[in-house]
Amino acid sequence: MALQLDYTNMMADAVQGALTAAQWDEARPALSAAHADVARRHVAKELGFIDLPSDDRLLKQCLEITAWADDERRIHEIVVLGIGGSALGPIALRTALLPHAWNMADFKQRGGRPRLHVLDNIDPVTIVALLGRLELPKTLFLVVSKSGGTAETMAQYLIVRKQLKLARLPLPDHLVVVTDPAKGALRPIVQRDGLRAAEIPPNVGGRFSVLSAVGILPAALIGIDVRALLGGAREMVQRCVSDDPRTNPALAYAGLQWLADTKLGKRIQVLMPYSDQLRDFAAWFVQLWAESLGKIHPRTGEHVGPTPIAALGATDQHSQVQLFMEGPADKTITFVALRSSPPGPEILVNPSEGAELEYLGGHTLGELLNVERQATAGALARRGRPNMTLTLDRADARSVGELIMVLELATAYAGSLYGVNAFDQPGVELGKQFTYAILGRPGFDAAYKEWRSLPKPDPGRIV
Ligand code: PA5
Repeated sequence: MALQLDYTNMMADAVQGALTAAQWDEARPALSAAHADVARRHVAKELGFIDLPSDDRLLKQCLEITAWADDERRIHEIVVLGIGGSALGPIALRTALLPHAWNMADFKQRGGRPRLHVLDNIDPVTIVALLGRLELPKTLFLVVSKSGGTAETMAQYLIVRKQLKLARLPLPDHLVVVTDPAKGALRPIVQRDGLRAAEIPPNVGGRFSVLSAVGILPAALIGIDVRALLGGAREMVQRCVSDDPRTNPALAYAGLQWLADTKLGKRIQVLMPYSDQLRDFAAWFVQLWAESLGKIHPRTGEHVGPTPIAALGATDQHSQVQLFMEGPADKTITFVALRSSPPGPEILVNPSEGAELEYLGGHTLGELLNVERQATAGALARRGRPNMTLTLDRADARSVGELIMVLELATAYAGSLYGVNAFDQPGVELGKQFTYAILGRPGFDAAYKEWRSLPKPDPGRIV
């Protein structure tokens, strides 16, 4: 079955103080306008992420590189050098679609497929530890950067390059680049060193790039069924052609969250999968929703955008759920459920364990997880806390493709509803400029002056 969104508990007839049917009906023209805006930008070739699932040329590029790397199974370790949108997607795919603790399994247990390491940072402790552990001759590094100039990724690349040189290993055997087809510092390096490269289309931004070579290449290299992944995403694109939120789950998701924020003050929006496999999708979604929607409104100058939070069921029932239930009533919670997942072992309770544990007997772990999700949703509803549930068939490649696309499209619609451009990130620029200025990069004199003019730490305020 296809992905479903159940938003019963977002509505006032089920949850006190939630959205009224009138508010939902009155939002229809705004939802249609958001749908038309996204469709118009898609036709204008601004929103390349929607086309990725049908881009056979890009898939072919990834499969050719995979076939080359598969040759004689010489690659045992894949390392993604990248950050943000170039890293969170591959991490989420690895967690969702490979057996648990894949990187801990040995080569035989992995069926000859490589491990996948994704740096997503420049902490020297992590990088030094990883490089110290890897057998470089058996390692392939993917340098992933849409802009081809991100300081963190370039620093990772320069360090790895030096290590490869010191080990006298041929760069084209160990470095593959994923970047824009023409722009950025990586393209000339590809030419100069004769490296293999896969493209991120110019109209696909970092956090919308998981279905480009950014996610598809590492996924194919570790043996994920990338055709099924893209197929699921393609099905979701087809489901979202309508401007009716009753048939377009991405539009419904965006519309409900936007209304909950702007009409009910639910500014914090939690994504809470009840599946360890999907836990890293919550982190991926946090970046997508936050970096796309947290903006200054171009006309009013207002600061807009919901705050996303990642949670995990059942784990967070013993942590954040207390806040969700009794803290400020400023949140919506979206559960992600699996329609059919492996039930796992049955819990057997021997009478000698005592009567108190009897209720667990005869149930599987999968049942318990499912029941706990339903109970938490019901408890939140009972306390007037709106929530909804996205249900996937199972945590497989096709369903994960659907999940990716429904959330990406929802983000695009939400950008239109909030009246902001979901595809830029001007707010991260000043910090970058200060970094360049402090490091003495030419051309950043003004930023350096601004940096110097900031108040210095006041010793009287340091405790
Ligand atoms: O979503 C985005 O655009 C960012 O989070 C980028 O992914 C991140 O800054 C890394 O950029 P790049 O892929 O250009 O190295």
